[in-house]
Amino acid sequence: MWESDGGLLARVDKNKMPRHVAIIMDGNGRWASVRGLLRSAGHTAGVKTLKNILKTAVNLKLEALTVYAFSTENWKRPPGEVDFLMHLFSDYLEREKLEMHENNVRIKFLGRTEDFSPALQKLIQESVDLMKNNTGVKFNVAADYGGQDEIIRTTQKLARRVQSGELSPEEISAQIFENELDTAGQPPVDLMIRTSGELRVSNFLLWQAAYAEFWFTETTWPEFTPEEFIDALVDFGKRNRRFGASAV
Ligand code: IPE
Ligand code: IPE
Ligand code: MG
Repeated sequence: MWESDGGLLARVDKNKMPRHVAIIMDGNGRWASVRGLLRSAGHTAGVKTLKNILKTAVNLKLEALTVYAFSTENWKRPPGEVDFLMHLFSDYLEREKLEMHENNVRIKFLGRTEDFSPALQKLIQESVDLMKNNTGVKFNVAADYGGQDEIIRTTQKLARRVQSGELSPEEISAQIFENELDTAGQPPVDLMIRTSGELRVSNFLLWQAAYAEFWFTETTWPEFTPEEFIDALVDFGKRNRRFGASAV
């Protein structure tokens, strides 16, 4: 089992914890280039950070953690980098799936994934099946994911149901829509974190983050630590969420 750093976790007020945290893991390439390394070295270093943050999420008993691993736009990168990332995903799943399972993690993939290699798709399916009955942290990996793409796919699913006569257009509600999203059954995003100083959403969880609190840091993803993750959670606990209601 993954050990917990009790002192670190004690900083978080359990009553003010977000249910769902989403992370845009950005800055791997810049981390590498300032060190004179290849971008691929940054991605490899980023995987270590991910493992540490997932461990922290498990120990905190966070309900859901969603990480942005590969966007629908990331296919625009040089083929060598795309290929490296695909191999990195495979290696990560192969190496980590049993340990995640032992820690009661329930992995899920958000996005398309059908353009991945058959071998990677098989590994994804095996990992999902292995952990499908786990009751711990819901760990969502957004891979070939775009918020707009997800909304279009969801719309297509609903249009097909309308076409078959199973659903009328008037019956489509926010709830019905959410039930068809890749994140169906999970709480909305409470806290969205982005590393490396970029202040944008880059097509991540457009629907689910409708009322998310945002937390940005200059730290690049390979340098991001459980301590800084806890900083973000503590800061979240101080926010006054209004959801459109009046301030006082
Ligand atoms: C994030 O780091 C990882 C992926 C998008 C796969 P980047 O590769 O975007 O790193 P920077 O932003 O170029 O530094
Ligand atoms: C967003 O980062 C995607 C992931 C972290 C996987 P990018 O680095 O691709 O985003 P932009 O291009 O800077 O907006
Ligand atoms: Mg980037």
